[in-house]
Amino acid sequence: MALLPILSYPDPKLRTIAQPVKEINEDIKTLIKDMFDTLYDAKGIGLAASQVDRHIQLIVMDLSDDKSGQRVFINPKITPLVEDKKPYEEGCLSVPEVYDEVERPTKVRIDALDGEGHAFSEEVEGLLAVCIQHEMDHLNGVLFVDYLSGLKQSRAREKVRKVLKQREKQLEAVKA
Ligand code: NI
Repeated sequence: MALLPILSYPDPKLRTIAQPVKEINEDIKTLIKDMFDTLYDAKGIGLAASQVDRHIQLIVMDLSDDKSGQRVFINPKITPLVEDKKPYEEGCLSVPEVYDEVERPTKVRIDALDGEGHAFSEEVEGLLAVCIQHEMDHLNGVLFVDYLSGLKQSRAREKVRKVLKQREKQLEAVKA
């Protein structure tokens, strides 16, 4: 098991545009495995490669409670299927302990490759629709806090700074 460090807001590396995956080789398969380990360790539901400083179009997701719902999306394209947008409270492993509502289309089509390189097309709603749009944003260098007001963004930066400091202290306490 390998845990990868997750970039935190406002690290400018999170703004990098991810490039398409050209070949699903052993390197990519190892990265997918490590990203799932990292996702479960951080108790998240979705992780984009951009967040672990690998700027390729790769997303892992598991919306289940028992690690039984692993999904891999490679080179995904998202098409909104409705104009209707609804707010949903989002969080992000790169913006720890910050949660706020973002409005997104409620139904989208995903065209992507799975972890084995097989192309698929799927129409999704609900949490999966929210999550894939959030992760897709990461591949384009966009974070959910970008949709919030300037005031909320500066509060988010402050919050993340505090959380990271706290975590550092906890690590030092463990070492001491
Ligand atoms: Ni995120």
